Amino acid sequence: HTVKYAFGLEELERKLSGYLSVPKVIVVSGDSDELPVVKKELGRATVQQMKNRVSPGDVIAVAGGTTLASAADMMVPDAKWNNTIFVPARGGLGEKVEIQANTISSAMAMKAQASYRLLHVPDQLSEDTRRSLMQEPGVQEVLALLKSASLVVHGIGEAKTMAGRRTTSASLRSRLEEESAVAESFGYYVNQDGKVVHRENTVGLQWDELRPDQTVITVAGGSSKAKAIDAYMRYRPSSILITDEGAAKAILNQS
Ligand code: G3H
Repeated sequence: HTVKYAFGLEELERKLSGYLSVPKVIVVSGDSDELPVVKKELGRATVQQMKNRVSPGDVIAVAGGTTLASAADMMVPDAKWNNTIFVPARGGLGEKVEIQANTISSAMAMKAQASYRLLHVPDQLSEDTRRSLMQEPGVQEVLALLKSASLVVHGIGEAKTMAGRRTTSASLRSRLEEESAVAESFGYYVNQDGKVVHRENTVGLQWDELRPDQTVITVAGGSSKAKAIDAYMRYRPSSILITDEGAAKAILNQS
């Protein structure tokens, strides 16, 4: 507490909470674009917030990305995780296997000594294949678990970076540019007004089906993500945002 006060982080948290309409904001010191250790601190803070909100037996939906991978690294066993089930929030989005939602939710579960399910859905599905996969009992079980999730934990990416990192077609990349996409999360791309301009065709949690009783924990840091975080929160303010000083200052300066 004292340390946060000394660095003015509490002030940043309060301002950002007001500006983004996010009830709870956690700001860790530093800028993860510059110092990798800051991403570890984002991961640590994420696990702490998850622990504050979870009850034994809960279902926890987890997305992908390097920030979520650092949260998985920070996970440790705790009675709070008793009988919890970790579930990937979405199927394949063309990411490397280390940072796919399946990998991260299973890694978190193993470190928490909890259980997990996998969502075996490949990238870039045709609509027909997507529909028939959704009829598979194994997929249906995971979709039902996702509906009952009490916690949803995810990152936010900068649109261009995400489209570049994934197996995104050239035509989609140029369409995202035309539509001025600035942020990406869960395969949803949004512009700076928070309007969804594109949704990847995969299987899993749909943002528009989220209920108010589900806690959404968003973790994203680094000054390069300032616009993306701002845009994404215009689309749907989360219950909790965990970010870093670099992103927090950049968001408030640009406002
Ligand atoms: O959808 C958002 C990305 O998964 C965020 O990825 O944590 O590696 O920046 P990142």
